[in-house]
Amino acid sequence: MSENQNKYGSVHYTDYLQLKKILDAQHMRSVELAEPAHDEMLFIIIHQVYELWFKEIIHDLSSVMDMFKDNNVDEKNIGTAVHRLNRISEILKLLVQQISVLETLTPLDFLDFRNYLFPASGFQSFQFRKVEVCLGLKSQTRQTYNNSPYASVFSEDQRTELQLLEAGDSMLQLIEKWLERTPFLQWKEFKFLETYKVAVDNMLKKEQLAIRETPFLNDAEKELRLKMLGDTDTYFASVLDEEKHNELLKAGTIKLSYKATLGALFINLYRDEPILQLPFQLLSKLIDIDELLTTWRYRHAQMVLRMIGRKIGTGGSSGFDYLLNTAIKHQIFIDMHNISTLMIPRSELPELPPQLKKQLSFYYSKID
Ligand code: HEM
Repeated sequence: MSENQNKYGSVHYTDYLQLKKILDAQHMRSVELAEPAHDEMLFIIIHQVYELWFKEIIHDLSSVMDMFKDNNVDEKNIGTAVHRLNRISEILKLLVQQISVLETLTPLDFLDFRNYLFPASGFQSFQFRKVEVCLGLKSQTRQTYNNSPYASVFSEDQRTELQLLEAGDSMLQLIEKWLERTPFLQWKEFKFLETYKVAVDNMLKKEQLAIRETPFLNDAEKELRLKMLGDTDTYFASVLDEEKHNELLKAGTIKLSYKATLGALFINLYRDEPILQLPFQLLSKLIDIDELLTTWRYRHAQMVLRMIGRKIGTGGSSGFDYLLNTAIKHQIFIDMHNISTLMIPRSELPELPPQLKKQLSFYYSKID
């Protein structure tokens, strides 16, 4: 047989997909223990399906991380990165939806085989931990349980792999470095931060005036609203003032460096300029992923409450309360969400100098 024939030789559906292996991998503990519980099949298959999707997520996420590892990200790759991150977000939507299929398992039917599962638990999903670590979740920010490190349930090799992953740059750190390199924040006489400060001032003054002059609020309500506006003002200050920003970073309230935050802000404000459109989509996809993962955590926690009430988990955590806390604490791209607080209305957006606008347009764009 020639080399070409070999390369393009026929392959059978069953062999290619290794279906014998996959379809022979559902061993019901309840059957082994001679107490068959019909719904255990669903329980096994749904977990296996999740693990397969986790594998695809890791496959796509790692490839995107590789694209950002160079200090000089090839612009041609940004479209592919957006495409793959979008795929991850679509998969996560599926993973959220699948919980409804799991909920066709009733608490009574689950209890038929739950006792055979100890101490197996989603805690032991190595791939789920890899997804979290690759995205940027750090050990010190994790919700702990039983005072034991999250990785203690894994083999030594797996622990080492997680440690190495955590020591390297996560997606969050790679994006941070990329954002720090955002050009045009200072371009000839144009200083983005200065023009933005003026626009923020204008916006806040208009909002104060609107509150003072409205006939629909009494004096006490007006005072309260003005105070609340003052708090937003303080938030703006954390971006406008590098020292304040660094204090928040040190306290762990925020994660993104000052320079990267300015880059993200610039991209969000001027996202209609042609060459900023893809970077804007990239940031949006990361927010989608974070949001969907958080949605999954809430959905999973609620499903757990419905399934086992306040019982402790098979992995030994407090169950529902632990899971709810992870939904609150384990968000990764929270600083990207915070950018929304820093948005100003389009009408207040400072005009970019015409030459800079030209730089931000596609080469063949018509400039008046
Ligand atoms: C009847 C269905 C399920 C129940 C009652 C359940 C219950 C729990 C509980 C109580 C925990 C907390 C850890 C513990 O103490 O065991 C947990 C964690 C977890 N479960 Fe589930 N689970 C179910 C289905 C699933 C499915 C289908 C997946 C999909 C992979 C999954 C993935 C996870 C993951 C990844 C964790 C770790 C979460 C974290 O630490 O942030 N679970 N589960």
